Amino acid sequence: MAMTKPTAVALDSATVAFRLADGRVYTAVEQANLAVDHGEFVAIVGPTGCGKSTLLNVTAGLLKPAAGTARIFDKPLAGLNRDAGYLFQADALFPWKTAIDNVAIGLEIRGTPRSEALARAQQWLTSVGLGAFAGRYPHMLSGGQRKRVALAQVLIRDPKILLMDEPFGPLDAQTRQIMGNLLLELWTADRKAVLFVTHDLEEAIALADRVVIMSAGPSARIIGDWRITLPRPRDIAEIRMEKDFHALHREIWGVLKDEVMKGYVQSTQAGAA
Ligand SMILES: Nc1ncnc2c1ncn2[C@@H]1O[C@H](COP(=O)(O)OP(=O)(O)OP(=O)(O)O)[C@@H](O)[C@H]1O
Ligand SMILES: [Mg+2]
Repeated sequence: MAMTKPTAVALDSATVAFRLADGRVYTAVEQANLAVDHGEFVAIVGPTGCGKSTLLNVTAGLLKPAAGTARIFDKPLAGLNRDAGYLFQADALFPWKTAIDNVAIGLEIRGTPRSEALARAQQWLTSVGLGAFAGRYPHMLSGGQRKRVALAQVLIRDPKILLMDEPFGPLDAQTRQIMGNLLLELWTADRKAVLFVTHDLEEAIALADRVVIMSAGPSARIIGDWRITLPRPRDIAEIRMEKDFHALHREIWGVLKDEVMKGYVQSTQAGAA
């Protein structure tokens, strides 16, 4: 019998609440159950403000659930999740460091000698297609190039779990597709557990093994979990033309669209957190 590997991420009835400035408690996420297997790529889609980043923050160990548990490789998460690399939505590059220094820093803070860190950083820049851009500062790079550097900065630390919060959000449609294919290529070479947040259902289906849908908040819940059995390797521009892709999209969108409208109304109401 094959050895079963422990589940990379397991949120069990996780409820997340924030205390607001006026003393009220806002329950953002209610009793979320979410499991990501070793080597599995899971996308989370849901309306704005529903709690997607909140779930990533719980998984990263930046937020503690008010109720329920977070387990990482079968151990209760206490403090920061050292197995996770987190690609934030906002640009997280140091503006005063070159591309190669931005990537090398991930190793240098661990005490890797600088010469070794630089050599590995150069390899990672090459892997993300930026081998010739090592000496550029972030302001000399395009938005898509900066995202590549950010990806290299996280991957050089070889995290077992990759948390990505709308990583390609600000990019144009073509660049998103190129980045999506790059991500799949890197992930195929070394299957990490991935938790990928996006508001783009098509992107989620094209990339993931599973798509998880959240309801609008407050007290957002996970309301759907679809297994995406489209064959791999995938080209995320081409897979969108497939009949099976369309069928899945129609089915999931049927559930998501009402929540998107509720989320929009909620986010425009005074008193909403
Ligand atoms: N520190 C905080 N204090 C109070 N409320 C918060 C805090 N952080 C988040 N919230 C609220 O919790 C809810 C979920 O926030 P979260 O950032 O997880 O949403 P999201 O799904 O990532 O949205 P988006 O798609 O817009 O990024 C929102 O209503 C938000 O206003
Ligand atoms: Mg967010």
